[in-house]
Amino acid sequence: MNLFDSFQIRDISFRNRIAVSPMCEYSSEDGFANDWHLVHLGARAVGGAGTVITEAIAVVSEGRISPSDLGIWKDAHVENLARVVRFLRQHGAVAGTQLAHAGFKASTGAPWRNHGAPVTIADGGWRPIYSSTAKGFTPESIQPEALTPEGIARIANAFAEGARRSLEAGFELVEIHGAHGYLVHQFLSPLVNTRTDQYGGSFENRTRILREIIEAVRKVWPERLPLWLRISASDWTEGGWTIEDSIALARLVKPLGIDLIDSSSGGIVPKATIPLGPGYQTPFAERIRREAGILTGAVGMITAPEQAQHIIATGQADIVLLARELLREPYWPLRAAYVLKQQIAWPKQYERARF
Ligand SMILES: Cc1cc2nc3c(=O)[nH]c(=O)nc-3n(C[C@H](O)[C@H](O)[C@H](O)COP(=O)(O)O)c2cc1C
Repeated sequence: MNLFDSFQIRDISFRNRIAVSPMCEYSSEDGFANDWHLVHLGARAVGGAGTVITEAIAVVSEGRISPSDLGIWKDAHVENLARVVRFLRQHGAVAGTQLAHAGFKASTGAPWRNHGAPVTIADGGWRPIYSSTAKGFTPESIQPEALTPEGIARIANAFAEGARRSLEAGFELVEIHGAHGYLVHQFLSPLVNTRTDQYGGSFENRTRILREIIEAVRKVWPERLPLWLRISASDWTEGGWTIEDSIALARLVKPLGIDLIDSSSGGIVPKATIPLGPGYQTPFAERIRREAGILTGAVGMITAPEQAQHIIATGQADIVLLARELLREPYWPLRAAYVLKQQIAWPKQYERARF
């Protein structure tokens, strides 16, 4: 397998194995996509990425991380998203979105606004916010309310409605955000989830909300379209979620219709010792792929074409997702193809710059 080999999941063909990892842009008003999203995401499709995934898109308004996140909680959001999707597809990328709920990390500010600290209601924030339990991310965070079983059912339904609207907008790929300390992860991780009902305690109970979300989404998201799941494969903390849990989860969700595990890590506790370095999360993708027999994506400090090619060629993962490197260089895939001596199509508008 090579970085620039095409592949297929269900009925969707991907032109290569490079994906734009979801990245919050903090540039929406009332959840609406706008010119920023068109230009930002569009540039990366033009730059040759095989898959372009939007930032985390909130399935309910109180599930936004910040007041300026993208949303998909009302039908009115579809039109602007459809404009972005059309452009991505015209330029050969598979258009994906990441359905999300921030849980106790909701109602915080953009990094350049207040460094992710809680936003007051006067400043556009909201209350209440929800989690698996009534304990905030930090003592300074807004303290959440624990979701009731009815609240959980409402959220599973909101994910399904988000998937329905994603389909209407023309997306060909949905990723469920189960990572980085957001709502789904707040149920998965024993560091946060201390519930004593059917949504807490055992592995089976802690994974229940996710299974219900996947089942609800798959009811409306067609069989012919891929469904990915991003997880934090490890909490990097004693007593937390582990890679073994992730492998068990991958085995559990594959028959429910998850096609690929996007293997990130961390985010559930403010202080974890994470061995940051090139490709530091790739071993998670490798183990999940091998031991659960499912497609995986590697993400995290993948920056060099040779590094990305090595990950794919050695079967550590089926795709690579790049975030910050694609902010630095939207045309990274075009350059990577040149470096790796691969012939790929360039946008015809740019062909005179090719050689
Ligand atoms: C500006 C920015 C915004 C991000 N927003 C999201 C997001 O919406 N959803 C998500 O799952 N990860 C998000 N991430 C994490 C990235 O998708 C990625 O997992 C992480 O940055 C590691 O990859 P990298 O080393 O290539 O940047 C964000 C990262 C950055 C830098």
